[in-house]
Amino acid sequence: MSTIAIIGAGSGVGLATARRFGREGFAVALISRNQARLDALAAELRADGVEAQGFAANVRDAASLTGALETATEQLGLIEVLQYSPLPAKEYMRPVLETVAADLVGPIEFSVYGAVTAARQVIPSMRSLRRGTILFVNGASAVRPGARVTGTSVAFAGESAYASLLHDALADENIHVGQLIIPFGIDDGQESHSGTAIAERLWAMHAERGEFRVYAEPLD
Ligand SMILES: NC(=O)c1ccc[n+]([C@@H]2O[C@H](COP(=O)([O-])OP(=O)(O)OC[C@H]3O[C@@H](n4cnc5c(N)ncnc54)[C@H](OP(=O)(O)O)[C@@H]3O)[C@@H](O)[C@H]2O)c1
Repeated sequence: MSTIAIIGAGSGVGLATARRFGREGFAVALISRNQARLDALAAELRADGVEAQGFAANVRDAASLTGALETATEQLGLIEVLQYSPLPAKEYMRPVLETVAADLVGPIEFSVYGAVTAARQVIPSMRSLRRGTILFVNGASAVRPGARVTGTSVAFAGESAYASLLHDALADENIHVGQLIIPFGIDDGQESHSGTAIAERLWAMHAERGEFRVYAEPLD
């Protein structure tokens, strides 16, 4: 059985992706900070016949993140797909002229250090499987910085650069790296903006291995 690890597994895109990959026979490792919430999501998935377990970790704490991925691998098997989609904190989104250097520590730990730690932890699994997919999920400020969301704009730029470099470095090893840009609010009432529709995109990125960057909708 293949395993997907979803880092930033909440009730939105996280759960929807878990269902989508679960439908294809994947076991699902759910990773976010709150074990009780993860247990509830895992129970929901198991009730629908998907093998799922929650492993609590904070992406800003490298030891907790590598520990969760290690335990997930021991319990569910080698990780073939990694999704990095934790939801950034509101405090990362300050106007540019109100942002001091210290305000960037959180967003950079969250989007850059966490992403690098997670990718490095799963690449050996993918190499031994001789296949893999790493999916990064970001809002529009990853490609068009927003003056009122300075921390995420700066940190997503770093995450985007890392993801793009990783794409090029791993392409010859049958490991696809992709980035999904979502330029709208998820579940804002439009069918195409639902978690389920986003999960379908993520499945297609894994299955079809197209371009590095995919837009859930064109930027306006
Ligand atoms: N929501 C939107 O409208 C929107 C718009 C554009 C793009 N996006 C992107 O789409 C993706 C999914 O968004 P979503 O709203 O559907 O999220 P979701 O899957 O419902 O949940 C994401 C989870 O990330 C976890 N998280 C936050 N900080 C974390 C940390 N430091 N360490 C570990 N986990 C952490 C949170 O759980 P805990 O608090 O329990 O840790 C949260 O439940 C994200 O990449 C987001 O940036 C979202």
